[in-house]
Amino acid sequence: MSMPLNFDLHEKSGIVTGAASGIGRATGLLMARMGARLCLVDRDEKGLHQLLSEINTFGGGGAFLVCDIAETSQVDQMVAASLKTLGSLDFLVNSAGILRRTAFSEIDTAEWDLMMAVNLRGVFLCCRASVTHMQKRGRGVIVNVASLAGRSCSILGGAHYTTAKHGLVGLSRHLARELGPRGIRVNAFCPGATLTPMTLKTTTESERERVAGSVPLRRWGLPEEQAQVIAFLVSDAAGFINGACIDSNGGSLMV
Ligand code: NAI
Repeated sequence: MSMPLNFDLHEKSGIVTGAASGIGRATGLLMARMGARLCLVDRDEKGLHQLLSEINTFGGGGAFLVCDIAETSQVDQMVAASLKTLGSLDFLVNSAGILRRTAFSEIDTAEWDLMMAVNLRGVFLCCRASVTHMQKRGRGVIVNVASLAGRSCSILGGAHYTTAKHGLVGLSRHLARELGPRGIRVNAFCPGATLTPMTLKTTTESERERVAGSVPLRRWGLPEEQAQVIAFLVSDAAGFINGACIDSNGGSLMV
């Protein structure tokens, strides 16, 4: 039986959160290059504007929507507006997230709650609003950007970051089982240390060297290479991948 090779994203449309920076930005750029139509979502309007201008220079299509993913009403409005703009929703990539390095005994309740509100509830809200539509169509793809921290333990973030990312892996697996019969694939993507504004802001150069030295490939990952894995997971080429945790960490975790 011959099967079409389908890494193509033409005719596909969807949402990328966290698109103003780092892995989400690289994913938005790559997917637009691959022909997808996108709603780029972030709370950083300036970053979104810059990305969309870049996408427009090569004729890519899409729009951006400013949204705080931790806020239920904003997320519901954002998904409804995306649907209106795109016509349908083939995929959702949840990349928006925050990192805090606070030592465990110093984490106050407000910081714990913020971490859960953005990194866990925010993803739940985006999934819930999108799934309502995907279920009706009987198809859809969700990629939740978790982390190596969700597979093992964070080397940069605090205990709340590790906890939220483990929760994201659990959410992804549960959705894969519950929504698979409705034609919706859900996977967790688990990058290791990746050079983005998030990690550049929170580490010193000597820490970055130490981290690189601990990775079997002896370097940090690049957002552009993480974006390629996400685009693959969204594409029909990954049509039988469901409920997986896909690692991309240079060999930092081998399980
Ligand atoms: P980044 O800080 O460069 O980009 C994150 C984006 O999310 C920013 O544009 C920010 O404005 C947005 N964002 C944060 N809170 C938001 C909210 N409440 N509502 C809407 N947008 C919000 O970070 P990076 O490195 O690109 O991270 C992307 C994802 O990858 C995150 O979920 C992070 O936890 C995860 N990750 C990153 C790794 C790394 O080494 N950089 C490693 C493993 C996972």
